[in-house]
Amino acid sequence: MNMPSSGDPTNTLVLGIETSCDETAAAVVDGGGRVRSSVVATQHELHAEYGGVVPEIASRAHLEHLLPVIRRAVREAGITLSDLDAIAVGHRPGLIGALLVGTSGAKGLALALDIPLVGVDHVHAHLVAGLLESPPMTFPSLGLVVSGGHSSLYLVHDPISPILLGRTIDDAIGEAFDKVAAMLGLGHPGGPEVERLAASGDENAFDFPVANLGRDRIDFSFSGLKTAVLYATKGHPGRTPPTLDERRRADLAASFQSAAIKAVRRNLRRAFDQHPEVSGLLVGGGVSANQAVRAMLQTEAAARSIDLRLPPLEWCVDNGAMIAGLGVRRLAAGETDNLDLAPAATSRSSILPS
Ligand code: KG4
Ligand code: ZN
Repeated sequence: MNMPSSGDPTNTLVLGIETSCDETAAAVVDGGGRVRSSVVATQHELHAEYGGVVPEIASRAHLEHLLPVIRRAVREAGITLSDLDAIAVGHRPGLIGALLVGTSGAKGLALALDIPLVGVDHVHAHLVAGLLESPPMTFPSLGLVVSGGHSSLYLVHDPISPILLGRTIDDAIGEAFDKVAAMLGLGHPGGPEVERLAASGDENAFDFPVANLGRDRIDFSFSGLKTAVLYATKGHPGRTPPTLDERRRADLAASFQSAAIKAVRRNLRRAFDQHPEVSGLLVGGGVSANQAVRAMLQTEAAARSIDLRLPPLEWCVDNGAMIAGLGVRRLAAGETDNLDLAPAATSRSSILPS
């Protein structure tokens, strides 16, 4: 591996590449966790008319955006490509065609620059977002990822190998936000729109279900909640549909958001109860940009004197800095990959420990 000329590991420079879904992103992070640059090209407008991410459109857009985004990230970091010490890439989980674009680009760069390639799990990288530009954290901690594709809780001794404690058995929480947004006639991605509408609604107007999969289980389920919102929005089959005026829409959004947050809170409390040894909580994923989610997490952490790492909004949603941040850690641990690194649609850790 090319060590930085000073030999100081904090001067190590890693380029992170993210193309797992609908953001093409690149960032340069140094060995001390400082973000030297972070560039994100979103494709939201391309997918908006379809109400969801279209995989083929995403792959094509990544192809168009990848090189300009990388060039900009390198330029904004005030370096040249030859200053880089490694290329990190989110290679799983995600849309396979989209991941192929990022991994192919990363391999080409690593080969041309003769520097290590570091494959990074996208979901694990979300947990590292709260460690960027922050003081060191004491482990073990809990890790919570609430995104469009994942709702997972982890026990984290080391961010490079979090242990999965629980996950959703059906929809991810962000997916539920997006689907409820579609029911309420809001745009895509729906999470921020539901949050906006919920602000003027009554969260107690509807008593939506908070799935409980078993007294000690910390897995999530959001499909029952989604169906309950669907019936409250469109009415039950064979019955006259309710009038969906502004008031009702806002109440539906607020009551849904509140039930979704209660589900996260309950599993979080169970995880804390089952792991009294933890002193911190790492949080990541697009839904952690939601102010009501953040307020709940702050309250729960304060009640237990937990070191809560809530990333700034720009690092909650998909970005390259979290990929580079985890890449820095894998590189420091001597974990690199070779050019047969394969993109994968699913996470290895999506299999629950027995
Ligand atoms: O982490 P992310 O960018 O992509 C995945 O890895 O899935 O998360 C995207 C998800 C979308 O479902 C989006 O609706 C949701 O995060 N989201 C929000 C908010 N901002 C983004 N959900 C609720 N409230 C928000 N403010
Ligand atoms: Zn993500």
